[in-house]
Formats: sequence, C-alpha cells, structure tokens
Amino acid sequence: MTAGLFISFEGIDGAGKSSHVEGLAEAFRLQGRAMTVTREPGGTPLAEKLRTLALNDPMDPLTEALLMFAARRDHVLNVIEPALARGDVVLCDRFTDATFAYQGGGRGFDLEVLRGLERWVQAVPALPAGTLRQPHLTLWFDLAPEIAAARLAGARVPDKFESQPVEFFRRVAAGYAARMAADPGRFARIAADQPREAVWNDVVAALRGRGWLT
Ligand code: TYD
Repeated sequence: MTAGLFISFEGIDGAGKSSHVEGLAEAFRLQGRAMTVTREPGGTPLAEKLRTLALNDPMDPLTEALLMFAARRDHVLNVIEPALARGDVVLCDRFTDATFAYQGGGRGFDLEVLRGLERWVQAVPALPAGTLRQPHLTLWFDLAPEIAAARLAGARVPDKFESQPVEFFRRVAAGYAARMAADPGRFARIAADQPREAVWNDVVAALRGRGWLT
C-alpha cells in the first residue's frame, strides 16, 4: 500500500498559497494518487464552526489559541489521520505553524503554552508515544508584508486577521522563520514575490526534489 503524505501550506495573508493547493492536488491526481484537500482552522463540521468564531469574534489570545487547537484536534482525528491511513496525499491549507506564527508571533502569545498544546493535540494513536503528527513537508510562501497588504487591499472584506496592521504581519513572518529554523528539513521556503508561474515551478521543484512528484 502507498504511504500517506501530509503537506501543509503556510504564509501570511495575501502570500498567494491557496491558489497553488488545487494545482498541486491536480498534479498528484495525474500520478494516480488519492487526495484529501483540506484547511485549518476547519476541515470538519465542528472545526468549521470554530473557524467562524475564531476569525470573527473578539477574544483573548489564550481563547484564540485554544480554539485553533480544538479545531485542529477534531480535524486531525477525523480527517487527517484516516486519510493518511488510507494512503492519501493530504494537502492542508495551514496547520500548526500558523498558530505559532499568528498567535505566537503576531499576538505575542506564550510559545511554551503553544508547544504544550501542540504535544497534546498532535499525539495520535497511529504514532509511538512521544512522536507527534507533523506535516512531512511545509511549503512556506514567504512574501514581504507590504507586498501582501497591497495585494489584499480591496480584494474582499477582511477578517479579524486580514485587517491587522503591517507590523502584525512582520511578526507573523518572523514566527514562520523561527519555525523553519527549528525544523529546516520539514520546510521548503518559496519566494512568493515572483510571478505566479515561477512560484508554481518552485512548488513543483520542492516536491520533485523529495521524489514525491515525477
Ligand atoms: P486563510 O487560511 O488565509 O483562509 P482565507 O483564504 O479563507 O482567508 O485564513 C485563515 C486565517 O486564520 C488567517 O488569517 C490565519 C489565521 N490562523 C491563525 O491565526 N491561527 C491558526 O492556527 C490558523 C490555522 C489560522
């Protein structure tokens, strides 16, 4: 049986990651792989309800972090684990790095608390004790916050995060950089300031370099 593969997509709002999720899903389908394409917060009926709350209602940073991880727990157990057990390729638009970047970096929330929640939420029956479910690869679409803000301006009604000032996104970007520095083998940094086609080529190159796409 084919082994499951878990790939997450990360970056600040406006970095353009979401437009490459479907492209990559199609590339894997052409190779005959079964796909699960999902997102966080969200991906299950309960987690989508938590998403609506987390993205719209004002709340303190701990409540926000708990909602993100509560949504993640439901999503991991009910969607990601079954998909990996079937041998699917799971493409997830954001995962835990977003919590470290947005709640940790952006909001300045305690990283030790986030690490504790990560250990609880990503411990799953399929893995030995002490091992956490993590993406096999995280594609980090890195873009200067000023450029991302210009791309987003006027695009749609901003949610709670999208309406944050550029300094917030500088801290979010630093949060992503710190996560990558702590686990460089899991990450591929994609320069998202290039034309769309060049960004896509870099995405494909990251997958080919690991032998996951031909
Ligand atoms: P996003 O994934 O960009 O979806 P859309 O394209 O529909 O806006 O939006 C999710 C927002 O939630 C984004 O601003 C980042 C934020 N977020 C967190 O703050 N913490 C998290 O743990 C996750 C997964 C997302």
